[in-house]
Amino acid sequence: MDNTKKPIFLMCPPDHFIYPDTYRKINSHMNRMRAVNQERACDQWQALAAALFRNGAEIKLLSPVYGLPDMVFTRNGALSIPSVDGEKQVILAAFKYEERRLERAHFFAWFQRHGYSIRYLPEHIVFEGNGEAIMFRNMLFTGYGSTRMTFQTVPFIAALLYGQKMGYIEVVPLRLVSEDFYHLDTCFMPILRSENHPDLIVYYPDAFDRYTISRINAIPDTIPIAVSKYDAYVFGCNFVVCNDAVIMPNGTVKLADTLRAHGVSVMEIEMSEFIECGGGGPFCLTLAI
Ligand code: ARG
Repeated sequence: MDNTKKPIFLMCPPDHFIYPDTYRKINSHMNRMRAVNQERACDQWQALAAALFRNGAEIKLLSPVYGLPDMVFTRNGALSIPSVDGEKQVILAAFKYEERRLERAHFFAWFQRHGYSIRYLPEHIVFEGNGEAIMFRNMLFTGYGSTRMTFQTVPFIAALLYGQKMGYIEVVPLRLVSEDFYHLDTCFMPILRSENHPDLIVYYPDAFDRYTISRINAIPDTIPIAVSKYDAYVFGCNFVVCNDAVIMPNGTVKLADTLRAHGVSVMEIEMSEFIECGGGGPFCLTLAI
């Protein structure tokens, strides 16, 4: 892992993490029978920000907007992509559901104000940012086939990356087959580690088809870690890697210990408000930029 670069995360405070009655249940985890407990949500969000900060990250803030509760899940707003000359660039998201579409303008404004070059996919191509496309070494894993992104998006991302000033990046599509695992980051997470430690790939097998599972198991020089159904449903895969530490939702039965057994420093935090009301965990709440 390149520890010389300080991790930077864009986060959006949960001031407006309140779902209006008209907001649909846009993923199967969202419990629309109960309201968000604002105080708990703020505490959990702050604990996450503090944990990242303590592990050496810098946090940038996106101002929350009334009526856009899912904006807290900044991971979906864009995908930061490398460039050979150090230029900051992102591919802007295009949300599938009406409920989230207005977020795009706010992400756009933030990236523009902060000097990023902003790339776009053609209109009508759904792309939910870093939640659906995860970079690992020179590979970009892209989820498709569940309820959000279809395979249609994949070649456009590949073409866009190919056209940019950067080294070679291989786009690896991973097919999702369960509606409960609607974004790649709900069921797949690579852990890039410092020298002398093998990289790890954490994933939930039942979220993928058989070919994809064999593809995951064949990622060179990695140890695949298959998580149990229980650990997957408490969003165990949705952790953030920050300077060799892993910050994950509490409540996994086995995953935290398995990672510790591999020498990973794991910190478990309470994320219930975001998981139960929004269907997203710590990774979703942080956008690596
Ligand atoms: N309610 C949000 C949605 O369904 C949650 C997004 C979670 N983000 C993620 N990267 N998985 O869009």
